[in-house]
Amino acid sequence: MSEPEVNPLSSSLLDGWSRFVASPGTPFMIPGHKQRAGLLWPELGAVNTGDVPLFGGLATLKDAAGLLAAAEARTATRWGADWCRYSTGGSTHANQVLTLSVGAAGDEVLVARNAHRSTLSGLLLAGLTPRWLTPEVTDGLITGLSVATLEQAIARHPRARAVFLVEPSYVGTLSDREALIATAHAAGLTVVIDQAWGAHLGFHEDLPAHGIALGADAVIFSAHKTLPAYSQASLVLARTERLDAGRLERAFDLSATTSPAGSILASADAAVALLDSPLGHDRLSVLLASVEQARERLRGAGLSVAGPDTHRMDPTKLVVRLPHGGQLLEQRLIAAGLAPEQADETTVIPIVTLADRPEDLERFTDVVLEHLADSPLPRSAPESTGSAEPAASHALPTARMTPRDAFFADTETVSAVQALGRVSAEVIAPYPPGVPVLVPGEEITQATVDLLQAAAAAGVRIAYAADPTLATFQVVRA
Ligand SMILES: Cc1ncc(COP(=O)(O)O)c(C=O)c1O
Repeated sequence: MSEPEVNPLSSSLLDGWSRFVASPGTPFMIPGHKQRAGLLWPELGAVNTGDVPLFGGLATLKDAAGLLAAAEARTATRWGADWCRYSTGGSTHANQVLTLSVGAAGDEVLVARNAHRSTLSGLLLAGLTPRWLTPEVTDGLITGLSVATLEQAIARHPRARAVFLVEPSYVGTLSDREALIATAHAAGLTVVIDQAWGAHLGFHEDLPAHGIALGADAVIFSAHKTLPAYSQASLVLARTERLDAGRLERAFDLSATTSPAGSILASADAAVALLDSPLGHDRLSVLLASVEQARERLRGAGLSVAGPDTHRMDPTKLVVRLPHGGQLLEQRLIAAGLAPEQADETTVIPIVTLADRPEDLERFTDVVLEHLADSPLPRSAPESTGSAEPAASHALPTARMTPRDAFFADTETVSAVQALGRVSAEVIAPYPPGVPVLVPGEEITQATVDLLQAAAAAGVRIAYAADPTLATFQVVRA
């Protein structure tokens, strides 16, 4: 995987950052804090520490673009891609770039229904019409998208230009990506994978391959999610057989800031260099072993924990399932200083990365086990009723407008009762599994409202809704 000529732990962007921080001079340039805001207010200085711009910071105004392009080209090679850009706008920006790169306004695209809100925003910006692919969900966990679902969608929408997948899902599960990619390519579709949670995939023999290695045309990931990178650091990687490099560039620049934070770019570059180094490999080995150990200890105590032996999934993902009481467990973890990323009544998910030490994960496991000893629960797997499962299994609502038309329409806020029969102006997704029950442009029905309210009553977080209590809905003005 490594480029032999590249020193595994070197990053030209990190070098530029270090040089500037050591000797910032007296820049008459942005950012306006001039590395001296501490003279005005010490805490403001502290919070600005390390903020170095790309232009005039990592390198001179003249040299910065070339320095960045060379680093991105090296990273494209690391993934076997032809094109790579580092984004300071998170995978949100990265997803938007790809929606702006696959077709033209009015084109149809096939989209996994667990797509992140940012993919929806991209569809809206690009004027693409989504045709949904509903992933399989079992006991509240997305288990992947079936090839049959993709084949049916291709047959129904033969003019679709691309397919957008989310692999791995938020809970770490993976579809049979090779089969999906082969099916899509055979039908002439461009394959885009939102691998936001899987930056590390493919960089250890015990990890599943990454999307580019499996033949996807483009992959995005958040370096800040599973790599030791600054918040908002994200990457877009593409092959250019089915995607046009010029269009990718224009789409990226159209939607990116013109003042990128060099510190974010340097941390992304250094994090991927680390991943692709012997040290990164060692840390992944440690991570894999400590997550496996945690999984065994939790299972030994009778808990249901998803793993590579029960699902096709990222083995570094720890997904603790409970019959109920997930939020009480979350409180206990927060009180112990171990706040998990996600918790609802039946699922608790700590994000574990190669920056975690084995003792951190042991402590996490100890606290879960202590909590269970203090408040014993029936420890069987969660029952499917009361989980978010119905969110995926119910029939998709009728789309009465495209997401874009619904976005630009006048909207109003109405009560849940008044919302019946109206067109939703918002995305609403119980999380997990994060499959939207409503997307802008879709009709709100009694079945949809009942389903959302049941999920909320079961303690599932209602993501993206303007009013997560579901007392009101935002609808297109009649
Ligand atoms: C699947 C998926 N894609 C994209 C994003 C957006 O990522 P970011 O927060 O880096 O903008 C997220 C965020 O959680 C996500 O879960």
